[in-house]
Order: sequence, then structure tokens, then C-alpha cells
Amino acid sequence: THQWRGIIEEYRDRLPVTDTTPVVTLREGGTPLVPAQVLSERTGCEVHLKVEGANPTGSFKDRGMTMAITRAKEEGAQAVICASTGNTSASAAAYAVRAGMVSAVLVPQGKIALGKMGQALVHGAKILQVDGNFDDCLTLARSLSENYPVALVNSVNPVRIEGQKTAAFEIVDMLGDAPDIHVLPVGNAGNITAYWKGYTEYAADGLATRRPRMWGFQASGSAPLVRGEVVKDPSTIATAIRIGNPASWDHAIAARDASGGFIDEVTDREILRAYRLLAAQEGVFVEPASAASVAGLLKAAEQGKVDPGQRIVCTVTGNGLKDPDWAVAGAPQPVTVPVDAAAAAERLGLA
Ligand code: F0G
Repeated sequence: THQWRGIIEEYRDRLPVTDTTPVVTLREGGTPLVPAQVLSERTGCEVHLKVEGANPTGSFKDRGMTMAITRAKEEGAQAVICASTGNTSASAAAYAVRAGMVSAVLVPQGKIALGKMGQALVHGAKILQVDGNFDDCLTLARSLSENYPVALVNSVNPVRIEGQKTAAFEIVDMLGDAPDIHVLPVGNAGNITAYWKGYTEYAADGLATRRPRMWGFQASGSAPLVRGEVVKDPSTIATAIRIGNPASWDHAIAARDASGGFIDEVTDREILRAYRLLAAQEGVFVEPASAASVAGLLKAAEQGKVDPGQRIVCTVTGNGLKDPDWAVAGAPQPVTVPVDAAAAAERLGLA
């Protein structure tokens, strides 16, 4: 009779809501923290995966969106808007349905995964494909929200960060303390900002004895925080993090520096290798952008930056089903057999 109530009810006293706030939830959060056996062996550490693809719309965005849509509803908004590489728009569309609101989404034309487009469509969002990249979409969404009656639900809306910080709470609640290192993919840099805020709040209130070092990884073709300058024409197969001018730039740098961590890059090849390892050896199917955290951990380990014996959490941010092209691409075609046990057994190498 008991189920997880969603992050607002579970962490109500740590979030900006009141007793009369109309909570809009799909019971997001409460996601699995899965011990990663192969990654632990490879690094000599205790590695866990925070599997955010298990959220209702298949990504961590739901944590921020339950807050953003709840507060928009409380403030009387009838329509919300976001720029997105796909996951924010899928989440905004679903939560807007729950709230009885209209959602409008701006996505970079031709650069979002099919599954995410399908989500926005089936939830009834008004979708505009913008002839530009994510950064252009965000500029446009900001301008529309400033000049028209529509609430912005991107992570530049601070309540998004409030919702997303709950993932750090869950990890500490589960492990009994903060890990030594927390590893994340970084795109618009809202999530690394949110985790750091969550860890910091718990430590300040004595619920954790320490804060982790924050390790962020961007895709090489979209690594403005690594380069120290805006990337005008970002590229990567990990379309979720194809971002050249992160909105939470300064917060990400602050989290990096205050935690004694770093932000580095991983190539598309390294991302795809980690993507396949996660699926084939850990049993966890994520989308390519999510594998950037694991690719980064493996790269750091190869560079001798990972001392053994540490406790490490890697967030894997989105579900593999959102972008299955990469699972199918390059894989051998399944063979076709007649309805015949002997033939099937032979093909399976059982006979
Ligand atoms: N992983 C996935 C699967 C994402 O969708 C995103 C961001 C990130 C990582 C990076 O997180 O932006 O907080 O640094 N997706 C946004 C979107 C931009 O529109 O769905 P971040």
C-alpha cells in the first residue's frame, strides 16, 4: 500500500512549497542506485549508478519539472515553454498534461532523438523545430517568456534546480553519507549545479559528513566549460548534451572548484564504448549522453586519477529507449529461422 510519493512529498521540508501548493507529480524520483560490478572491478572502487532513466518520462528532468510545473500552476500560468535537446521537452509536455496546461517546446531542427520527439508529440506539446542549435532555442524561449504570457521551465528557472537537487539527497539517504566522488554528464550545467546544492545542504544540516568531489564530463565537440569559451557550432552524437553556451556556466565552475573536482571532455568514441559497456556488462541501457559520465570515469581511471577504495556515484541521466538507433547501429542483424527447434538450437549454438 505504500509507494514513493514523488520528490515534493518525500522532501517537502527542503523544497520551496507551502501546504497549499498544488503539487503536480508523476511520482518521479526514488530511482535505483545500482552497484556497478564491472566498473568497480576496473577502477578498484565501489562504483554505483544512479539510474535516472527510471523516472516517469525516462530522464532526470522529471525531478525539476515536478517543481517547475507545480510552481507555474500555483502562480496561475496557463502555458509553459522550454528550449530542449529532447528530454526537458518530453518532461515538460507530460507534466503540463497533468497540470491541464499547454506546453510549447523549441528544439534544434533534426538534432533530437526520435523517442523524445515522440514523447512531446504524444503528450500534445506545441513543437517548433528551430533552424539553429539548443543555445539559439534557449535565447528564443527566454525572449518569448519575457514578452508573452508563457512561463519558462528551463533550468534557468531556479525551482528546476531545487527539484533536481533531491537526487543527491536520495544518494546520501541510501549510502548513509555522501560518496567521495560524484560523476555527471554536463550539457547546460543545471544538473551538476543541482547535485552540488543538494550535497551542500545535507552537509550543512549534518546529514552528511562530507561533500563529494564533482567530476563533470562534456562531449569533446561540445565542451565550452573545458575550453573556457563558448562553442559556436557544437557537435556530438550525444545530442542531449550538444550545447555550446551552458546557462549555468558559473554555477558549474563554482561546484567544480568548491568541491576540488574537475570538468573534462570525452570523445564520441569513448561515449559509445561506455554506452556499450553499460548495456552489455552492467545490464543498464542508457542514452549516449548519459554514458559520458561513465566514459569520463573510465578515462580518469586510465589516466591514474582514480585512487582505489573510493566510493563513486555516476549519474546515468536518461533511458536508452529514447535513442535506440545507437543500440542497433553496427550490431549484427538477428538471423531468421523457421519454426523448428533443431534449426533454432543450431543457430543458438546449443546443438
Ligand atoms: N543527460 C541527458 C540525458 C540530458 O538530457 C541532459 C540535458 C544532460 C545529461 C545534461 O544535463 O544540461 O543539466 O548539464 N538535457 C537538456 C534537455 C539540455 O533539453 O533535455 P545539464
